Amino acid sequence: MSMPATLSDEETSAPEMNLDKIISINRNSIVSRTVLQGRPVIGKCYTPDRYPEYQRQYAGFCSPPFLKPFSEELTRRYCFQKELDLYQFSSQLPEEERFSSILEGVDPETKTFFTKIITIGNYGEHFLQVGNNYGQKAESLLHAVNQLHAIFGRYHQELYQCSKTRRSSRLKPRNKEEDYERYLNYFRTIIRRTSDSFRAYSAALPSARGESKTAPLTMNKQVDRFLSEVGVKDLREVVDDFVNRDWEICYGKKSPQLIDVSKKMKRQLAQLKELYQEGIASVVHGDVVNPDNIFYMKDYMTDKVLACDFAEVRVDQRALDVAGALFNPYNMPKSVPDEIIAIELMGKYVEKVHANELVPLDNKDFVVRCLETRLRDHAVRLFAIDSGYIPAEIRVFASRLQEFDSPENDEELHKKFLQEMFIRRFTDFTEHYLRAEGRASLEDIFGKQGALLVEQIRLVENLYTAAGVMASSPSAKRQEHVKEIIES
Ligand SMILES: Nc1ncnc2c1ncn2[C@@H]1O[C@H](COP(=O)(O)OP(=O)(O)OP(=O)(O)O)[C@@H](O)[C@H]1O
Ligand SMILES: [Mg+2]
Repeated sequence: MSMPATLSDEETSAPEMNLDKIISINRNSIVSRTVLQGRPVIGKCYTPDRYPEYQRQYAGFCSPPFLKPFSEELTRRYCFQKELDLYQFSSQLPEEERFSSILEGVDPETKTFFTKIITIGNYGEHFLQVGNNYGQKAESLLHAVNQLHAIFGRYHQELYQCSKTRRSSRLKPRNKEEDYERYLNYFRTIIRRTSDSFRAYSAALPSARGESKTAPLTMNKQVDRFLSEVGVKDLREVVDDFVNRDWEICYGKKSPQLIDVSKKMKRQLAQLKELYQEGIASVVHGDVVNPDNIFYMKDYMTDKVLACDFAEVRVDQRALDVAGALFNPYNMPKSVPDEIIAIELMGKYVEKVHANELVPLDNKDFVVRCLETRLRDHAVRLFAIDSGYIPAEIRVFASRLQEFDSPENDEELHKKFLQEMFIRRFTDFTEHYLRAEGRASLEDIFGKQGALLVEQIRLVENLYTAAGVMASSPSAKRQEHVKEIIES
């Protein structure tokens, strides 16, 4: 198979001229239907600033406090190269093994690649068509994950090598040391952007009122001081505890580094093989929470699937994609029976992995890993990221959610969005797993791992209620009250 064309200057001006339908604009990239050498294609451009549509959307948001979330040029190049490598890899596989659309061309100058248009449906559209049945939607997307994982598993070593950097691979796994910093930032961001009591504290600081002779405190210091005043002595310690427990639940004894990237590639591949065979990690997609990224042929339950959006593909635990399929903004459990369906589906995933890949996965550990991933990814990571969304980003997102009628006022929109998407869902989750049926099953059925998860959920709930991110639920308040009566 020949490599896709790298375009000449003359040809690369074409996509811009023919930018006839934008599919999505986000901070790092712009995706559109366009024409390449006379053929209709999809173009994904990692230099989105070139487009007036991008400039318009983000005008007024490129300065503080919004500046920070905009990704660096280096990150964009990294994601572009990773996606390109994966498209190239998939395009040369036999058709039945291909997991992406065919790569049609590349323009390195503008960091744009072009792929053949997939005309079959994606799961995002499917979700909109089938309405409210949690189990049906979750099962269909999980089926797609099983299929993708079977291919990713079969080629795990080749995939790791297809996107090489100087020392390692762009698919290298997470690193625990980086997680400490990452989650410290996420928690601080959530508090800064969502807590009214923090906002009041910050506004009353002498520096905010122009009364201080010393330099104003940085935002991070403000958050940390605020927390110590509300009884959280050391946020860093809380976060270390959170990350350590997360690693213990998700990777067992394999910490603090899944693959030692300072070793030669041969050694890294040997470590990867071991992780794969022990069922600890494989190659995962990483962005299944967006069901638009996964396509099915005709029948969403039986046909071969394809994926796009490979910026997050990496070596990680399989539960990451399974949690994405079972818990995502477009399809969350809404009742106790839904919660049970989710657990049942995790078991089905495990059975199929045994059958397709002969990889051992412990059913009980896997369930706890999926729930921990739901907590970490939805109640922390996505909450932090989405709390920085600008109104245009929220509106695109909210237009897809049937239950969300978006208010006119931007400030109200932001509040309602975070309330509906994160706080309400997290409260449902904590109620079920800390105070209702879920807790009983975690402790009785899932043993030590289940008990770790209970502690982990409690850590996040305690931090959020102390910091004024959310209020205590009525049943949490009652429990607290009983405790006070007994202890007084
Ligand atoms: N080859 C293709 N054929 C049809 N649709 C595609 C193709 N490639 C991408 N898309 C659609 O465009 C959407 C955006 O592409 P992609 O996910 O790669 O970009 P993104 O920057 O992550 O966008 P978003 O922020 O919306 O996820 C995809 O979710 C998918 O539905
Ligand atoms: Mg996407």
